[in-house]
Amino acid sequence: STVTDLEALLAQLGVKVPIPQYPAADVLKRPLDIGRSYLADIFCSLLECDPDVAYKSIHWPNDISSGDLAVILPKLSQGGDSNAVGFDLINKFPERSLFVLPFHDGVHLRIMFNPNTLPRLLLPYMNDRRDSYGRDDSIGLRDLSSPEVGRKRLLVEFSSPNIASEFQARHLRSTIIGAYIANQYENMGWDVTRLNYLGDWGKPIGLLGVAWEKFGSEELFQADPAGHLHDIYHKILELFVPEQAASKKVRDEGGDPATIESQGLFAERNAFFKRMEEDDEQAVALWKRAREVNIKQYTELYARLNVTFDEYSGESQVKPETMAEVEEILKSKCISEESAGSWIIDLKKHSKLSGTAIIRDRTGSSTYLLRDLASVLERSRKYSFDKMIYVVAADQHTTHFARLFKILELMDMPDLASKLQHVHFSNVSKMSEKLGHGHTLDEILDQVQKATHDSLEMHPDMASVLGHSENSISSIAISALVAGELSTRRAQDHAFEVTRMTSFEPGTGPHLQYWYARLSTILDAYSTFIAPPSEEFDPLSDEECSLLRLLVQYPDITHLAYESLEPATVMTHLVNLALQISICLDDCDGKVIDSLTQAYLYDATRRVMESGMKVLGIIPVRTP
Ligand code: ARG
Repeated sequence: STVTDLEALLAQLGVKVPIPQYPAADVLKRPLDIGRSYLADIFCSLLECDPDVAYKSIHWPNDISSGDLAVILPKLSQGGDSNAVGFDLINKFPERSLFVLPFHDGVHLRIMFNPNTLPRLLLPYMNDRRDSYGRDDSIGLRDLSSPEVGRKRLLVEFSSPNIASEFQARHLRSTIIGAYIANQYENMGWDVTRLNYLGDWGKPIGLLGVAWEKFGSEELFQADPAGHLHDIYHKILELFVPEQAASKKVRDEGGDPATIESQGLFAERNAFFKRMEEDDEQAVALWKRAREVNIKQYTELYARLNVTFDEYSGESQVKPETMAEVEEILKSKCISEESAGSWIIDLKKHSKLSGTAIIRDRTGSSTYLLRDLASVLERSRKYSFDKMIYVVAADQHTTHFARLFKILELMDMPDLASKLQHVHFSNVSKMSEKLGHGHTLDEILDQVQKATHDSLEMHPDMASVLGHSENSISSIAISALVAGELSTRRAQDHAFEVTRMTSFEPGTGPHLQYWYARLSTILDAYSTFIAPPSEEFDPLSDEECSLLRLLVQYPDITHLAYESLEPATVMTHLVNLALQISICLDDCDGKVIDSLTQAYLYDATRRVMESGMKVLGIIPVRTP
């Protein structure tokens, strides 16, 4: 579809062409931009204002009852009498095919598309674009000026659980938000690589090694590998927690916990980790087994969540040579210094940040930070990414990622540092309170699955539309979990209410699935699609028109969500769509489509629902 096609369609509808041109508008991708362009043009000609000011004065209300677009009059009148400007605009408003007469509402002028024109414009528009509606392949394309050709490359690191301990709420949130980010970037034309950076190295694995030496059983391991490792880790933690508390107490009182940490499990743990770093055969063999069984188990569990990774990397995979390279740069630039046997960076000496970053501790072991620094170099060499996103809880921002990025700048790698982004979310969660401590991902999934089963039993009418098979229950359960996770904004605490998320209340995954299935059923019965005759459109009901007004926004929604990386934006839009569908379809149960216009409307709605669900990671259960 080209601008010429679009202009031909607009001309048929009585709208003056050519479409006024604005650099910020992309009329072929975002139908609201058609509205914006015409409106800005009207303002320019009636008020003789600057095109840029005119375009930017147009806003998009987040509630269709406030209009499809709105103008903030004080912005437009730029110090003039905004009230008078508003009345003047209404009096002289010329474009009556595309819009109905605007109305004044406080500082706003509210604008609505003409309900007779909108279906004739939008339905063929959406039909032409099919599944690409709401996507924008051109965003990920490199500029012609760039030395490379093709698509820009995103590396997104997410989930990243620790193999010694449980799968925590922050790993669950990271998994689901990260999968969304990867999908969203792909929809915008980027070449995306999904990376899981396992916590499979460091002192905790040393502790796991000690646990194996004390409690490990080959027999129990064979029966349930990941489960057994988990059990022995918990056993050792029980013994270790009092030692940790004692060390913390000394530290809190301003003392040096070195003596405490040189004995007991501290010493055993450090010694085991040292053996790992020194490539001791036995220690490495144990670590390797632990890593392999975890990857195997996680791969299956992620598949249940519809999540895949291109690479299971991990802290263990960072090469000692690269770490040495980083340390060399830090030393040669006098960024790091030796302090009581460890190598540290005193951040306030070099930056606006505060605190001490430890590069290598006094036992000579590498740290989380050093491994991350080296992994940035390795990833940049391996993938030459244009951007890398870390999806990790917010509590690691100041303590870790801000430091990581700053140290790269100090290392004279500002370009590399500027490609990195930490996308964070609140680390406060109700999940362990609800599920009890020590849960694994399969326990989380099983709980949600059971609750979904109960919810379907309570709603036989819904169940009959969605199907009762184990397969559909699993899919609905996953949608419940994903929708639950993605309906809270990232900065908000994690609620994790299994009963609520598996219910059929508006806003839940099952509610989306149900209305998607209803749409599919109705469309099944109507299969004779021919090209939409734009002149012979049957009128739509007011509620159907509201549905269209939501559809018109979809590409703006996905753009917004792409920019903010806030999946709740897409989720909220789908919730509104499902509610509007329920209003349109429910007034007469067993509704049938009785006009071609309706067929196009519901088909377009179904496609937007599907596109939105998929980008969020929700697979429709019932498809036409
Ligand atoms: N494994 C870490 C944790 O559970 C998250 C890893 C985050 N990614 C990173 N590159 N540091 O807290």
